[in-house]
Amino acid sequence: MAAADVRVSGTLDALSDSVAAAVAGAAHHAVKQRGRCTLLLSGGSTPRTAYELLATRYRGRVPWDRVHLFWGDERFVPPGDPRSNARTAREALVDRVPCPPANVHPVPTALPSPDAAAARYEETLRAHFAGNRPVFDLALLGLGADAHTASIFPGSRALVETDRWVMAVTAPVEPSPRITLTMAVLTAASRLFVLAAGADKAVALQRALDPAADPAQYPAAALRHGGGRVTWWVDRAATSGSGV
Ligand code: 6PG
Repeated sequence: MAAADVRVSGTLDALSDSVAAAVAGAAHHAVKQRGRCTLLLSGGSTPRTAYELLATRYRGRVPWDRVHLFWGDERFVPPGDPRSNARTAREALVDRVPCPPANVHPVPTALPSPDAAAARYEETLRAHFAGNRPVFDLALLGLGADAHTASIFPGSRALVETDRWVMAVTAPVEPSPRITLTMAVLTAASRLFVLAAGADKAVALQRALDPAADPAQYPAAALRHGGGRVTWWVDRAATSGSGV
C-alpha cells in the first residue's frame, strides 16, 4: 500500500484554510473536467471552519451553480435540529453560497423512520448517478476518537454491505439513530479528504493509517482500501504519538 498522504497543520484554523483551498481547487477542477462537481459533506464539528472559509475567503473560486452537495451521513433528527449535520453545513456554508437549491441533497430526516430516510436517499443517489454506484468527485469525512467515519462505527454492517448504498444504523453515541452511506460507496469517491483535529484523535489516526489495522475495529482504516485518492488533513495535536 502506498504511503499515506498526510498533511499536517499547526492549528485547526490553518488546517481549515488548507482544506477550504483544496476543496475549492478540486471543485473547480471537477467542473472543468465534467461540467459538474459532486461534493459529499461531512458531519461533526471539525469541518465547520473550513465550510465558513468556503463561504467567505474561497467563495469566488468555486463554480457553485455547478456543484451538487450530498451528505455522507446524518443523525436521524428533524432537519432544523441543532444536531443535524445538514443544519450545521447550511449555517456555515450552504445558505451563504449561490448553490441552486435543486443541487442541495440532504438526507430526508423528516420521513417517519431511519429506514425510510435511507431508502429515499438511495433513490436520490440512484437518480443523480443514473443508477450507477455513486462516484463522488470529492468526499469530505471526519474521524471519531474510536476511528469511526461518517456513521460507520466499529463492527458496523455498513463496512461490508455491497448491495445497498445507504443504510440506517444505530450509533453507540447520541443521537443514536443514523443514516450513513456505506464504506463501499465512500471509498468509490475519486478523492477523499479525511479531517482530524485534536489530541483525542491521535490513536484513531494512528490506527487508520496502519495498513495492518482491522477495519471492523477501526472503520477509518478501510478508507485506504478503495480506489480513490485519500488525503488526511490533520493538525499537529492529532499526530501526537503517531510518528506521523
Ligand atoms: C457525525 C459525523 C462523524 C464525525 C466524527 C468526528 O455525524 O458525527 O459524520 O463521523 O465526523 O464523529 O466528529 P468531530 O469532528 O465533531 O470530532
